[in-house]
Amino acid sequence: MTEPLNAAGLKSLPGYIPPLCRELRPAEHGLLLPHLQRLSPESLRLRFGSPVSLHTVTHYCRNEGRPLPIICGAFLGFDLRGVVELRFASGVSPTEAELAISVEDDWQQIGIGTELMTLALRCARDSHIDALAVNFVPNNMAMRRLAQKFGAGFSHQTGLVKGVFPLVRPGYAVIAGSKRPQ
Ligand SMILES: CC(C)(COP(=O)(O)OP(=O)(O)OC[C@H]1O[C@@H](n2cnc3c(N)ncnc32)[C@H](O)[C@@H]1OP(=O)(O)O)[C@@H](O)C(=O)NCCC(=O)NCCS
Repeated sequence: MTEPLNAAGLKSLPGYIPPLCRELRPAEHGLLLPHLQRLSPESLRLRFGSPVSLHTVTHYCRNEGRPLPIICGAFLGFDLRGVVELRFASGVSPTEAELAISVEDDWQQIGIGTELMTLALRCARDSHIDALAVNFVPNNMAMRRLAQKFGAGFSHQTGLVKGVFPLVRPGYAVIAGSKRPQ
């Protein structure tokens, strides 16, 4: 029989209960700020690409005047330990989004980032996003590896690495089960 944790790509640790990953309802978006506040200063710096103040993070989470983001979370019990955000810029097509991801320090490197990315790419396809990118500092090896696992192509600009994810959607014929070349 398949080991459920291995099947989900999560590493089994003694006493480890795998997270529940799901999209947050807009009413739950307020959970983002306390999650970001629980990141270590280094993880917060990597998340935003530079050191940020609490004021800046609070302002960012209010998302005032910007389109509603898609936010997915990883819950361990009732606690939100990881988040992936798909954000849309004002006045730009809603088919273009920027991805940002964070997993609280004590929960990193056990597969939660991979679980969240899987869900985020599914949400992106379901939401008809066809241009999805993540920006990160060049020494962020965890993000580089994570993006690489999901087929991102990389370019370098303004001191950041930009990873672009391939989001080709299957045509209707494929969904309908056609075996013919599309
Ligand atoms: C990036 C981040 C979300 C990864 O989350 P995670 O839960 O640790 O990811 P996973 O456990 O699924 O690991 C994903 C891959 O990255 C690798 N990895 C994780 N941390 C790593 C590190 N510090 N150095 C090198 N590789 C690393 C893992 O080995 C794994 O690769 P594998 O499947 O080939 O073994 C997490 O490190 C984080 O929150 N960092 C701070 C915020 C941030 O940098 N966000 C990105 C910018 S928006």
